[in-house]
Amino acid sequence: MKRLEDISIDNKRVIIRCDLNVPIENGIIKDDTRIEKALKTIKYCLEKASKVIVLSHLGRIKTPEDMANNSLKIVCNRLSELLNIDVAFCKYEDDIKSIIDNNKIVMFENTRFFDLDNNKESNENEELSKYFASFGDIFVNEAFSCSHRECSSITGISKILPSVNGFQVCIEIDNLSKLLNDYEKPYTICLGGKKVSDKIGLIDNLINKVDYILVSGLMAYTFLKAKGYNTGNNFVEEEKIDYCKELLDKYSDKIILSVDAYTSNKEYKLVSELNDNDECLDIGEKTVDLFKTYLEKSKTIFINGPFGLFENDDFSKGSKSMCEVFKSLNSSIYAGGGETTYMLNKFNVGNVFMSTGGGATLTYLSTGKLIGIIE
Ligand code: 3PG
Repeated sequence: MKRLEDISIDNKRVIIRCDLNVPIENGIIKDDTRIEKALKTIKYCLEKASKVIVLSHLGRIKTPEDMANNSLKIVCNRLSELLNIDVAFCKYEDDIKSIIDNNKIVMFENTRFFDLDNNKESNENEELSKYFASFGDIFVNEAFSCSHRECSSITGISKILPSVNGFQVCIEIDNLSKLLNDYEKPYTICLGGKKVSDKIGLIDNLINKVDYILVSGLMAYTFLKAKGYNTGNNFVEEEKIDYCKELLDKYSDKIILSVDAYTSNKEYKLVSELNDNDECLDIGEKTVDLFKTYLEKSKTIFINGPFGLFENDDFSKGSKSMCEVFKSLNSSIYAGGGETTYMLNKFNVGNVFMSTGGGATLTYLSTGKLIGIIE
């Protein structure tokens, strides 16, 4: 992996592709973690380089209305505040060359605004890649969470300019690679969320490395259906039942499923006793105790997916109890996915490496590589 500190950027114009795709509501940034995480690389480049050009996408852009709602200008203002210097903002119609000439740091408008009909950014268009590359001399990929996709502003530019990975990207890979190559056993992964299909790559790649897979959240009900249970009114991925059956047959002592739940009318139920109308929104105390026995003996843990509907205080007790378990452990704990990190932050879990990626983290752990990482 090529690292920023390994090359000279002295007096060079450096393009940094960040992921500043932050949540914005009514013109207000709700969480600026992604901007904060990019600061170290931006500050380092500001100290050494002659110019810094920041690129990012924001939101998913399909229509002109999406463009109106997803300008990076608000993010540019926030970056200026955090850096305590003026960051010049460059719109598409502006003369970018002269703005770069006249400013130390420039943020270019949303990379996804370019030619919506042909979606040139997300299709890694050569003409657009060359245009972005013309802004500078060196390219730094600091957008870990976008590194699983081909796009003009990452894989496109890196084919044209000398390129390296930013500090945050290296932190992500240095940590997550331990889950593939350098883990202490026993090794346990906690999977939650809705769909088994989202985790198949991860399960298949890790099944022979891990000792236990603790399955809860809604995805547990596809496994429970595979075991022949009545899964009530819970979402089940019918086309993945056979996959779950095979897994349960082959790895019965590795795969541990949730055993109890609280239903939407706050009734406590064992998962073996569900009625047709039961909709399960939280795990119960028996599941927490069961999972705890596996987690307490684990030296490496990866958490991906929530345990229940933790955003709703009526159904957050199980997730909160699981977070208390994590807080009490001395093992190496890693987590990925927006909902998972939101849950861990909500219950103040501090002893976990939280990846900034969702899809990128899963792709990396499923395949051992990411197309956007500079090697
Ligand atoms: C994210 O929020 O996961 C990244 O910014 C990638 O966004 P995308 O899924 O729209 O490509």
